[in-house]
Amino acid sequence: MRRRIRTREAPRYAGPVIQPTPALPWTTAFVYALPHGVAVGYHLPEGPDPVDPEILARLTGAERTHAEALRGYRQVQFVGGRLALAVAFGELGTRRAPVLTDEHGAPILPEGLVGSITHKQDLAVALVARGRVGVGVDLEETTRPRPGVAERVLTPRELEAVRTLVPSRQWVDTVVRFSVKESVYKAIHPTLQRYVGFGEVEVWPGTDGVDRIEALVPDVAAFTFEARHAWIGERILSTVRAEPK
Ligand SMILES: CC(C)(COP(=O)(O)OP(=O)(O)OC[C@H]1O[C@@H](n2cnc3c(N)ncnc32)[C@H](O)[C@@H]1OP(=O)(O)O)[C@@H](O)C(=O)NCCC(=O)NCCS
Repeated sequence: MRRRIRTREAPRYAGPVIQPTPALPWTTAFVYALPHGVAVGYHLPEGPDPVDPEILARLTGAERTHAEALRGYRQVQFVGGRLALAVAFGELGTRRAPVLTDEHGAPILPEGLVGSITHKQDLAVALVARGRVGVGVDLEETTRPRPGVAERVLTPRELEAVRTLVPSRQWVDTVVRFSVKESVYKAIHPTLQRYVGFGEVEVWPGTDGVDRIEALVPDVAAFTFEARHAWIGERILSTVRAEPK
């Protein structure tokens, strides 16, 4: 089924609108050279059925061993994320290497590369860049407002700012802030090695898709952040680059 293509409507942020191609499971949905790295979307099959051995065979040996121990959506999403990473390696012209997971769940990229992963039931996205500066990627739904999320993930100042918006924009603004915070977390956690709460960072979305990060605690303020968001169909894709000052 083709998704309705959204254009830049007035109540939405006017960031770049990027659209995946129609879905065929286990194929590349999109490849975009974004400011923080190459982003690859990978279509996932519907449902949590075990991943076919021929798809598992596309993984590197160590990844396959890890994937074989997983079940349900977790297995599908892990495999999709690794296959998206593999496409991104190809786009960067680097050799494919197994990407395993550290003790906190972060992907361990080969020397000289940094990367991050996000997934929903039907799509995995990997972001890969050259260098050592942390990157994060996150994908969030905008369609169904979820009660209580704003209060859980926004600071009092952010909540106040969101509540000044017209009702139709409040949920999208909340989702952008939420997604960027998750990307911030993925970008800095491998360096900080501690849990960072949603109240420790503020996100100020820009109408051009360039977002400002304000760190409220010293160890997070020790990074220089760049953050962006864009639409993929009905979802927000955020990316963050976090460089120690
Ligand atoms: C870890 C977390 C960010 C993952 O986000 P999510 O929306 O649950 O799931 P996503 O599909 O977007 O991302 C999952 C991927 O995140 C990555 N990830 C998990 N833990 C991670 C970590 N500590 N550091 C970096 N990346 C991590 C993994 O690659 C994982 O995919 P994989 O297991 O297939 O490799 C989230 O569960 C979490 O704990 N958030 C709370 C902390 C937070 O966001 N604070 C914001 C303050 S700045």
